[in-house]
Amino acid sequence: MAKEINTIGVLTSGGDAPGMNAAIRAVVRQALSKGKKVKGIKRGYAGLLNEEIVDMYAKSVSETISRGGTILQTARCLEFMTEEGQKQGADICKKHGIDAVVVIGGDGSFQGAQKLAALGINTIGIPGTIDLDIACTDYTVGFDTAINTAMDAIDKIRDTSTSHERCSIIEVMGRGAGHIALWCGLANGAEEVLLPEKYDYDEQRLINQVMGARQQGKQHYIIINAEGIGHSESMAKRIEEATGIETRATILGHMQRGGSPSCKDRVYATTMGAMAVDLLCEGKSNRVVAHHGGKFVDFDIDEALAMQKGVDEYMFQISKSLV
Ligand code: ADP
Ligand code: F6P
Repeated sequence: MAKEINTIGVLTSGGDAPGMNAAIRAVVRQALSKGKKVKGIKRGYAGLLNEEIVDMYAKSVSETISRGGTILQTARCLEFMTEEGQKQGADICKKHGIDAVVVIGGDGSFQGAQKLAALGINTIGIPGTIDLDIACTDYTVGFDTAINTAMDAIDKIRDTSTSHERCSIIEVMGRGAGHIALWCGLANGAEEVLLPEKYDYDEQRLINQVMGARQQGKQHYIIINAEGIGHSESMAKRIEEATGIETRATILGHMQRGGSPSCKDRVYATTMGAMAVDLLCEGKSNRVVAHHGGKFVDFDIDEALAMQKGVDEYMFQISKSLV
């Protein structure tokens, strides 16, 4: 059994995601309710190495549950990817009396947590990314808000696309994963969804589809293109040239990461934050909180990082059959 935890650190790392504040708030308040001290580590692992560490109290997280972004700031930190950086990070935790760290971020951030755990700092990961690209969980903090933000934006683009009888390519985020694109494809009833996991780079087929749809009287043609495929602007030019149909590309970009978190993101992030503290108080370390099979559960980080997931096959099939 690990030694008792007295002080819990919390940090956000990698891309921010709506709901991260709800997770931070839950970590702080659950820890305080269990008689623990809490320290906020600013700017992810970069802030840890710079000793940007602040005491957190119940009031530190007042009025934050509805706010987008992360009150602790976030960063990417190359130095923490070196053994030296990791050792320095663990030493700084010890110097500040931090026995455990809750890391809110994606797979990369969990690898950092894994290294800290190996150096004697108890760690728990909370999946925080709009990309939904963490294999052990069917939910990540921020995904729900991001897809709703993207869905609203795509509805608006569809209005103008219909008025002008255009083809519109809308590029959504997701890094190498197509989850945001697939969900938006279904939610917006897009004519076409291009996913990195599935795309065959057969642009002639796409061109034929756009022309076929126009011949059948479709007033617009919405293509949701995942960031992992990219090149939306040049794709639009080629489609316009080949079809004669005006084609525009819109890259939604960072607007997808902002905004007040949805109810689901607030509630799930809150549950995961509280659970992270409970796990630490039970003496657990090197684990990640997940939502799997309809339940909140936890996995060993090593096992979680070794898991793989693709896009949902059935959802992908119906994105093709329902157009
Ligand atoms: P995400 O957590 O969203 O996947 P990144 O992959 O950018 O985002 O990782 C966030 C940060 O986590 C990196 O900037 C780095 O500080 C840390 N990190 C990533 N990979 C490792 C690794 N292999 N070892 C230690 N730290 C890592
Ligand atoms: O991981 C979240 C994410 O928004 C990805 O969808 C995207 O590829 C990346 O971060 C963008 O990163 P940056 O904010 O550094 O441009």
